[in-house]
Amino acid sequence: MTTTVSAAVPAAQGPAPAPGLDPDPDGSTGRDPGAHRVLTGDRPTGPLHLGHYFGTLRNRVRLQRRGAEMFVVIADYQVITDRDTADRLGEHTENLVLDYLATGLDPERATIFAHSAVPALNQLLLPFLSLVSVAELSRNPTVKDEIAHSDQSAVNGLMFTYPVHQAADILFCKADLVPVGQDQLPHLEVARTVARRFNERYPHADGSAVFPTPRPLLSDTPLLLGTDGGKMSKSRGNAVPLSADEDTTARLIKGARTDADRRITYDPVTRPGVSGLVLLAALCRDRAPEEIAEEIGDGGAAALKRTVTEAVNEHLRPIRARRAALAADRGHLRQVLRDGAERANAVADATLDEVRTVMGSV
Ligand code: TRP
Repeated sequence: MTTTVSAAVPAAQGPAPAPGLDPDPDGSTGRDPGAHRVLTGDRPTGPLHLGHYFGTLRNRVRLQRRGAEMFVVIADYQVITDRDTADRLGEHTENLVLDYLATGLDPERATIFAHSAVPALNQLLLPFLSLVSVAELSRNPTVKDEIAHSDQSAVNGLMFTYPVHQAADILFCKADLVPVGQDQLPHLEVARTVARRFNERYPHADGSAVFPTPRPLLSDTPLLLGTDGGKMSKSRGNAVPLSADEDTTARLIKGARTDADRRITYDPVTRPGVSGLVLLAALCRDRAPEEIAEEIGDGGAAALKRTVTEAVNEHLRPIRARRAALAADRGHLRQVLRDGAERANAVADATLDEVRTVMGSV
């Protein structure tokens, strides 16, 4: 079993959050998140959307504000697990950096880097692969699910091994906390297994362990549904991107699937479409979904969609304004990636040296 810690991270002292960022309304966590090294990441396959924002981006910023040391990997090698070529990789990578900075990650404090720019990280894959069996790789539920959704005719080797690659992402910097969605838990289990087995097989001369055993940090936000009532996902075309303008946002929400019952209620099980919209407005306004539903009452789907559109556009306005300002300077984005890669390379080189030493390969 995997242990999780609460995603409720209280606000730090220090600079007030930028307008539009989450005000940290929640209580306390037993452990000081400032004491953690945190790694998270995304694949550069397209713009981040509201599901990412409420599911993980907001939490990253909270953790950063608490003083946690953040590493954010842009997993460009992972893009080619389920497609033949990585389409517009450079553009998607820069846009991820834009989404990160606009939502509040501070590149002075967070190390933002692309997989492919850190050779020593990727080299960890080799010893790590020797620690897991082919049977373990083929039963991984997330891999199975991604194979089911892949449009490739054959499953490639990188698809099978990418949970181990992801273990290298996490362990290269010795992260002990990994904010992830529910669907990524099996991968984290692989990273934990790799860390444990490596430590057992290759202890330091004094008996101490090379790697910490990383723990997942699950978001306390319920799963956001897309405009078709299914899981909000880049690849399913049902998402509201953070970068969309206000008119596009209105159009996307207008097209969302609802039902014929004019009375608006929050009932995720029997009314997923309507309830997904209610939840979205509630998250943006930091209110209870039941209250939002109650206020709309008999107004029907049209009134609900107007409320949601306004709530989303209002909440994202300052974030989008920052995004637009940052987007004007592509050179700055590339510099953020270069600085991040430099820091990540220093950390990865040191870890790889340590790994070689304990393996006796120096
Ligand atoms: N697999 C993750 C996704 O598809 C992205 C990712 C890559 C990641 N490396 C990671 C997430 C390490 C957490 C930790 O969203």
